[in-house]
Amino acid sequence: MIMKSPVKVAVEMAARKKIIAANWKMNLTHREVKSYADVLWAEVGVVNEIEVILIPPFTAIPALAEALEKNPVARLGAQNMHWEKCGAFTGEISAPMLRALYVNYVVLGHSERRRLFGGTDEMVNRKIIAALSAGLQPIVCVGETLAERNDERVEEVLKRQIQEGLKGVNSRHFHDLVIAYEPLWAIGTGRTATPEEAQEAHAFIRSVIASVSDPSTAARLRIQYGGSVKPENAEELLRQQDIDGALVGGASLDARSFGREWKGVRRPRAVCPPIMPGAKDEFGVFVVFHVLPK
Ligand code: PGA
Repeated sequence: MIMKSPVKVAVEMAARKKIIAANWKMNLTHREVKSYADVLWAEVGVVNEIEVILIPPFTAIPALAEALEKNPVARLGAQNMHWEKCGAFTGEISAPMLRALYVNYVVLGHSERRRLFGGTDEMVNRKIIAALSAGLQPIVCVGETLAERNDERVEEVLKRQIQEGLKGVNSRHFHDLVIAYEPLWAIGTGRTATPEEAQEAHAFIRSVIASVSDPSTAARLRIQYGGSVKPENAEELLRQQDIDGALVGGASLDARSFGREWKGVRRPRAVCPPIMPGAKDEFGVFVVFHVLPK
């Protein structure tokens, strides 16, 4: 066991629509967007029971916005933004610029931004506040390195990233947030967290959210898992009670394969874990656990 918190639990029903997102990273041009969308719609059709977000590079956003007109259910995301609205920030993109392109979501604090481009908790915090005030929904990425996991520092790292990242965020904005748990050792490595490891981290994240907001806000907040998600493992990960979706990188570049993950999530589950009498287990109604004060 890596996680150490004593968890006293209370149960609460919360409706959480599953959310599955394709993070294309620095891949695909605007010319490839139409065929991607055509293949995806042919594979899965129009869906209502889950929320799907496509997150292309900035250059492909307008073309994708046009392609999404055919499937109004899918939403558009961006991979990053600056916290200022405008100004002398060469190479940056602002929240109002993204809103002007009908972008709904923005990924903030992705480990590649933190690790390769000097992103800090403080920058992530400024971006989250700017995104929310512009009407964008942040997908806030958190996660530990392998060394931190081996040193049993998972809770410490997740807690710091959440507390620092969400500092000063108005509680009425919490329902616009999505958290993505992305352990660094699982990103692009082919090594996925086991469903148990991921569930344990998600439950902990929910307890931290409860401590910075309140239990019912935490019960409603959606937490995605990211890190080598593919059609073969998506369904089992998403069956865990605190895993509300997936942030998919490499496996989202092939529209057909991404569509298969999506279909797996849509399928009603064969087994309903006997958590509590009357707990529903299909498409977003869950019994959730959160930490109570000692
Ligand atoms: P991966 O990336 O699915 O290729 O591991 C996930 C991510 O970085 O969001």
